[in-house]
Amino acid sequence: MKIDKLLNIKYPIIQGGMAYISTSALAAAVSNAGGLGQVATGGFSPDEIRREIRKTKELTDKPFGVNVVLMHPDVDEIIDIVIDEGVKIITCGAGNPAPYFKKWLEADLIVIPIIASVKMAKKVEALGAKACAFEGAEAGGHIGYLNTFPELPAIVDSVNIPVIAAGGVYTGRHIFAAEVLGASGVQIGTRLLVAKETPTVEAYKKALINADDTDSIVTGITTKMPSRVFKNKLAQRLNEIETSQGDMEEFFNLAEGSGKRAVEGDIEGGSIFCGQGLFYLNRIEGVKEILDNLMKEYKSIRGNFKN
Ligand SMILES: Cc1cc2nc3c(=O)[nH]c(=O)nc-3n(C[C@H](O)[C@H](O)[C@H](O)COP(=O)(O)O)c2cc1C
Repeated sequence: MKIDKLLNIKYPIIQGGMAYISTSALAAAVSNAGGLGQVATGGFSPDEIRREIRKTKELTDKPFGVNVVLMHPDVDEIIDIVIDEGVKIITCGAGNPAPYFKKWLEADLIVIPIIASVKMAKKVEALGAKACAFEGAEAGGHIGYLNTFPELPAIVDSVNIPVIAAGGVYTGRHIFAAEVLGASGVQIGTRLLVAKETPTVEAYKKALINADDTDSIVTGITTKMPSRVFKNKLAQRLNEIETSQGDMEEFFNLAEGSGKRAVEGDIEGGSIFCGQGLFYLNRIEGVKEILDNLMKEYKSIRGNFKN
């Protein structure tokens, strides 16, 4: 897997930007453990983002990135902060990256857009992306319609830049499967939600650990912003409203600010973004332990297939 060489990191593992979750503590822990940590911009103000980038620089001397949410109301200011702070790697999604590419390339950034289709992959390659991350609908958070397993080889065959597989990666076996399908690296999100270094309350992590494999659900399909979330009371109510063609004003009122509410401890009334692999979340662990075990298992399973 060659994304480690492009990004100058030990393991071919990127920590996905996670709104409200990936602060400097998580990003630096991932980078120190050999992956690529990323500071999120989703859910944070420009001042908070600058502060978290600076803290990350204090906590690690390894490469790290920033995940630029393109629909952030302060996206222009955030892009200036990223460049000003000397960040060298960004991922970006939730919007059209085209207007920003010239500025990014002039600043010598490695830009890795998150894409959800062959069309988007080809577009970002033409714009000058050094790699792209294909995120399948198994992932936690805002999702597209295609899944990692069927679509990844289609993306890989359609572009010449390295493709990172995001969505549904929880074990070394998943990393090897992504490699077999042509990925040059993986991006993980949900697997890290039970890491000690995330800023969520313990009840948030415990809810995911105690969940069944069927406990993620997609809400917001009718809003054109589908999100995969933990099936708590809020998600079930949102789902009820949508499937019964109920009051969308109530839907939006309930959804407003729900990500922040969850991180602060409202486990039933907040939105906990999470992917389909809840089966694999079994205990609270440190980031280093998670990454080391992923790579240990990946190497072991890969070795088994050599003969
Ligand atoms: C709690 C949570 C918040 C997320 N927030 C963002 C975000 O702000 N920006 C983004 O590009 N992706 C976001 N994602 C997606 C992740 O960056 C990553 O691509 C995804 O989690 C990978 O799939 P997985 O959850 O199956 O590991 C989020 C995912 C989760 C679980």
